[in-house]
Amino acid sequence: MSNNALMVSQRDLWQLVDAAFDLIHPEVHGHHQQVGYLAYHMARALNLPISHQFLTLQSAYLHDIGGAVKGQDISLIEIENISRRVAHASADILADFPVFNAISVIVRHCQTPYRETRQLQVPPLHFPMLDISNLPEEISGIVEKVADITLQDPLFLSNLIHLADDVVLMIKPDTPILNQVDKIIQAVQKGAGDSYAPQAVRALASLAGDECIWLELVYSTDRIVEELIMDRKVNLDAIKQVAKLIGMIIDFRSPFTAMHSAGVAASARSLARLAGMNEQECDMMEIAGSLHDLGKIRTPSEILEKPGKLTPEEFNVMKEHAFFSDLLLSCVGGFNEIREWAALHHEKLNGKGYPYHMKDGEIPFGSQIMAVADVFSAITEDRPYRKGMAEERVKSILQENAERGELSKLITDLLIANFDAVNTARDHASREAGKRYFRAMQKTN
Ligand SMILES: [Fe+2]
Ligand SMILES: [Fe+2]
Repeated sequence: MSNNALMVSQRDLWQLVDAAFDLIHPEVHGHHQQVGYLAYHMARALNLPISHQFLTLQSAYLHDIGGAVKGQDISLIEIENISRRVAHASADILADFPVFNAISVIVRHCQTPYRETRQLQVPPLHFPMLDISNLPEEISGIVEKVADITLQDPLFLSNLIHLADDVVLMIKPDTPILNQVDKIIQAVQKGAGDSYAPQAVRALASLAGDECIWLELVYSTDRIVEELIMDRKVNLDAIKQVAKLIGMIIDFRSPFTAMHSAGVAASARSLARLAGMNEQECDMMEIAGSLHDLGKIRTPSEILEKPGKLTPEEFNVMKEHAFFSDLLLSCVGGFNEIREWAALHHEKLNGKGYPYHMKDGEIPFGSQIMAVADVFSAITEDRPYRKGMAEERVKSILQENAERGELSKLITDLLIANFDAVNTARDHASREAGKRYFRAMQKTN
C-alpha cells in the first residue's frame, strides 16, 4: 500500500481542471484558456513579477467556475450576460479553499469596471506561492525572494482579466484574426480609464504587432497548461483542495447531484479508516471520492436528471462516465491508485459491473470501498424528487447488494456496524456542499 508521500505535478492538476471545465460547457470550450493566455501576456508585457503573471493566468482560468451551477445547456453569451454575478459566485466557491484564496480575491472583481474598482478598498494580498526548492534552475534566480509574495493591487490583475475577457469576446470567428487586431485595440482604447485601467490598455496595445500572440490566442491555446504552468510539485493537502473543487464542478452541474461527490468522499474516507487504511491512504480515498464521477461532467443533463428509470439506450450513455473518469484521471502522474479507486466504482465482484467487468480478486480494495460509499451515498442523500432513504432501508439494500455478489460483504458489514459514524461524516459533507450549491445558485440567478 502507499507509504511514499503523494506528490503530483501542478501542471497535471491544472490539466485536469482544464479538461473538466472544457467538458462541462462544450460551447464555452477554450474560453477560459483564451482569457488566461491573453491576460498572462499582458501581465508579462508589463514586466509584472513571475508570480503575478501565473496568478493572473490561474485566476483567468477559474473566473467562470461559478457558471458551473448553470448546467451544461447555458451558452457563453448567457454566461457573459450575467458575468458579474458569475464572478462573485466563482469567488465565493474559491474562497473556501486556502490554496485559491488569492485567486478568489482577483476573480471577485474580474468583471467590475475599472472606475468602480477605484472606489473599492482591497488590501494588499500576501500569499505564499512558490516552493523555491522545486523551481527549475533558470527561474529560481529570478524569484528567490518571493517565498511570501505581496500583491499590492490585486484589483489591477482583476482588470487585466476583465480586459482580456472582453477582447476574447470581440474576436469574430469568421474573420482572420490579424485583420481584427487594430479594430479591437481601438475599441478597447475608448474604455481606457473607464472600463479598463489605462495601464492595462497600454499593455494590450503593446502586443498589437506580435502576430504570434494573436495567432496562438485563436489557434493554439490548448498548449497553454503545458507551456505556461510551472511544473512544480503539489503536496497532498493542496491535491485534496483541488480535488474537492473539481468535485464541486462535477456536482454543481445539476441539483440532482449537487452533494453527491462530497458525500461519497466523506463516506469513502470514513470507511477507509474503519478498514484500517493509514492516514495518507484515507486522504487518497477522499481525493478519489471527490473525483469518482468526474466522467459525469459530460453526461447530458436530461439523463443525469431523469427521475425515473433510464431506458437501455440512456443507461448505455450513463455507463460512459466511469470510463471517462478513468481516462481523465490517467493524465495525472502519481494518481495511479487514486485513479483505480475512483474510476472502478461501478465494477462488481460478480463481474456484472462496468465498464471492465472485473471480478473479485481483480478489483482493488480501495475501489471496493468506493463502490460501497457510492451506493450508500446515492440512496441516503436527498434528491429533488425524493427524500433519502431511512436507515433500515439503506442497510437492507446494501445487504441485498452484498448477497448478490455486487458489493463487498466485508465493507458492507463494516458500514452497517458503524452506520452512525459513516452517516454523520456523509451528512456533514453533504450539508456543507448543499450550502455552497445554493449560495452559488442564488448568486447567479
Ligand atoms: Fe458513478
Ligand atoms: Fe457516484
